[in-house]
Amino acid sequence: MNKNKVYIETYGCQMNVADSELVMGILSRQGYELTKEIDEADVILINTCSVRDNAEQRIFGRLGNIKKIKDSHSGAVVGILGCMAERLRDDLIKNKNLVDIVVGPDEYRRLPSFIESAIGGVKGIGVKLSRTETYEDIEPYREEGLSAWISVMRGCDKFCAYCVVPFTRGRERSRSLDSIVSEIEKLSVRGFREVTLLGQNVNSYNYEGKDFADLLNAAAKVDRQIRIRFTTSHPQDLSAKLLYAIAENPNVCNYIHLPVQSGSNRILRLMNRNYTIEHYLELIEKARKIIPGVSFSTDIIAGYPTETEEDHQATLDVLKRVEYDGAYMFKYSPREGTKAYKMEDDVPNEIKTRRLNEIIALQQSISLKKNQALIGTEDVVLVEGFSKKSENYLAGKTDANKVVVFPKSEGVVPGDYVNVKITGATSATLFGEFLGKTVLNEFADGISA
Ligand code: SAH
Ligand code: SF4
Ligand code: F3S
Repeated sequence: MNKNKVYIETYGCQMNVADSELVMGILSRQGYELTKEIDEADVILINTCSVRDNAEQRIFGRLGNIKKIKDSHSGAVVGILGCMAERLRDDLIKNKNLVDIVVGPDEYRRLPSFIESAIGGVKGIGVKLSRTETYEDIEPYREEGLSAWISVMRGCDKFCAYCVVPFTRGRERSRSLDSIVSEIEKLSVRGFREVTLLGQNVNSYNYEGKDFADLLNAAAKVDRQIRIRFTTSHPQDLSAKLLYAIAENPNVCNYIHLPVQSGSNRILRLMNRNYTIEHYLELIEKARKIIPGVSFSTDIIAGYPTETEEDHQATLDVLKRVEYDGAYMFKYSPREGTKAYKMEDDVPNEIKTRRLNEIIALQQSISLKKNQALIGTEDVVLVEGFSKKSENYLAGKTDANKVVVFPKSEGVVPGDYVNVKITGATSATLFGEFLGKTVLNEFADGISA
């Protein structure tokens, strides 16, 4: 039996986190052991992200360190997985001579044979994309815990003009509904309390006529004490049926990550986002009617090619109008091979930085205001463990994904649902008072007609 030890480090989005668990599932079937110590690894794998240049630069820096570890003592096989593997391909072996194997997101089944060959001194590269691979028969390697990620679809067909993901992840394809349900059943038996369904655009999930609303309904029924989350939703495909599925299932969190990217219709058109701001705002309004109290978060890109002050103001305006509970905010980064790459990156870096800072400052003030408005209200928190700062406090999340910190209480353990009363707030954290243990209520939500 193979007793080689594998160390894996993961960058990028949650889909990469889920993929690393898949990779460990594949390798552990072949007898590999997981190690958390890079120094004792026979195989070092880095699962990478290409979404912005600074993500890649960080990983190149790390690869430099790892090469030193390899050269100075361990002699481990080093492999690069994920989106950079797909984007840079043999450049990573031929020109940079940094690694032994390069394996893209759709070729992980071949990893064991690539590793074997590399141990024998033969470098390897597998970067073919597939129209059908979903790995649905592979059991991911998951440690004990409360929270699990499940990829329900792979790839993206949206081709937003700035984005490298359709090139690194290939075409959209969905996993069977039954395979997802049975994975949640297993997680339920193991005591998991939160499942996040993942895809670049989960709303376009489609398996033999079952859409994402059907999947949510089925996933939520498995265990009503498991919270179901999902990400990411593209505004184009957020149907009324899906909004009702969120509203009708008490354990589907009332929280939608709905990236807007820009507030300017001209920029949205250049981005190939396929919606106008008016359509987007109507959608938010419709969701708020169907799902009372629903929370939203978003992604914003600052300094897209040709962006004017007026376009930037339009983005600030959308933030004020929607009042998101949170946002991920980025400076535009040109990616080779994308449509936007052909446009001049004409917003100077100082201006991008200034605009980004304005966006961040505005969003922080909105988050603070929204959190302060919760003081005095009660909410249900899934307890995750001690707070980061002190073992006298516990921390967990609300349905809207907000962190709540409250004093430790006798008999309360991770995995419990508790009622808390909110007593304080910053832009990032709520503070609360423990009221008592609870369970998720079968009939909590209901729809408002
Ligand atoms: N499928 C998801 C996630 C895509 S990547 C979605 O559509 O939202 C996450 C975020 O990174 C995107 O929403 C976008 O805001 C940002 N992003 C993608 N490409 C980028 C680029 N070239 N420069 C800056 N930000 C980018
Ligand atoms: Fe990229 Fe757009 Fe697909 Fe999201 S929807 S992954 S931003 S191309
Ligand atoms: Fe990055 Fe690839 Fe995810 S580019 S954001 S790891 S899909």
